[in-house]
Amino acid sequence: MRFADRRIIVTGGGSGIGRVISLRFAAEGASIVVADRIGARAEQVAEGINAAGGKAMFTQTDVSVSSEVDAMVTAAEEVFGGVDVLVNNAALCEGDNLVLMEEATWDLDVDATLKSVFLCSKRVLPGMIGQRRGVILNIASANGLSYFGEEAYSAAKAGVINLTQSLAVRYGQQGIRANAIAPGTIRTPIWEKQLRKAPELFKRLAKWYPLGRIGEPEDVAHAALFLASDEASWITGTVLRVDGGLLAGNNVLAHELVAEFQEQET
Ligand SMILES: NC(=O)c1ccc[n+]([C@@H]2O[C@H](COP(=O)([O-])OP(=O)(O)OC[C@H]3O[C@@H](n4cnc5c(N)ncnc54)[C@H](O)[C@@H]3O)[C@@H](O)[C@H]2O)c1
Repeated sequence: MRFADRRIIVTGGGSGIGRVISLRFAAEGASIVVADRIGARAEQVAEGINAAGGKAMFTQTDVSVSSEVDAMVTAAEEVFGGVDVLVNNAALCEGDNLVLMEEATWDLDVDATLKSVFLCSKRVLPGMIGQRRGVILNIASANGLSYFGEEAYSAAKAGVINLTQSLAVRYGQQGIRANAIAPGTIRTPIWEKQLRKAPELFKRLAKWYPLGRIGEPEDVAHAALFLASDEASWITGTVLRVDGGLLAGNNVLAHELVAEFQEQET
């Protein structure tokens, strides 16, 4: 039970990666606050944890609204006595093409994805600094490191990576660690809309991944548990790519190049 005495908030914990991170931390003995803007989702995850003998509560929280973030952390402090790990996992990706994007859509994506990390971190930090112990774990994206479309979301994820570094450097001396995870494509409900239009999408995407498959929420959860654990006590300010090798290079392009050269030689 690596997290038996730890109190953990998981934002966007009602679905996908956040849900599995919540379940995995709970299975390691942590007390979990499952927070989601859709309260029923968070409630269901918390109920599942409690039914399995774990410790969880839920809050209905829009993490882009400071008063709601305040209420979320206050609830965690009242019920569990504080916060040891904050997993900033909630994000939105509604916009795409920059020229066609409405200003309101830009704001929606950037607020849910980046401003939320500012608001939640700002709110938990005084308590963490007071106890001289705390971990902030930000779920960024491969989109924050390279271009894959979705401009507002991607710019926000790049901001999350930079903010992770700021948190790590500024608060390291006070016992705080901050790290980011940059996942590639992960099989979660965030893809529902695209999968309805293109049911074969995941199969098509798999060929871009050196490891030959897209990721599962568990792939991210395993990395999250490690970075939040004491085993990572000298790791801060880093971005761990959990992307099946996607950003290490372009295998499909490499094959094209090799085929081209071979054609020229023959
Ligand atoms: N699935 C992927 O392919 C992928 C790839 C890279 C990064 N990520 C990142 O992983 C994280 C989790 O994504 P997912 O795929 O599990 O998505 P998901 O849609 O399954 O879950 C996200 C959850 O966040 C909640 N949420 C959204 N905005 C919120 C807000 N303002 N306040 C509170 N809750 C909010 C949603 O209600 C939802 O329950 C996100 O940060 C996402 O950007 C996902």
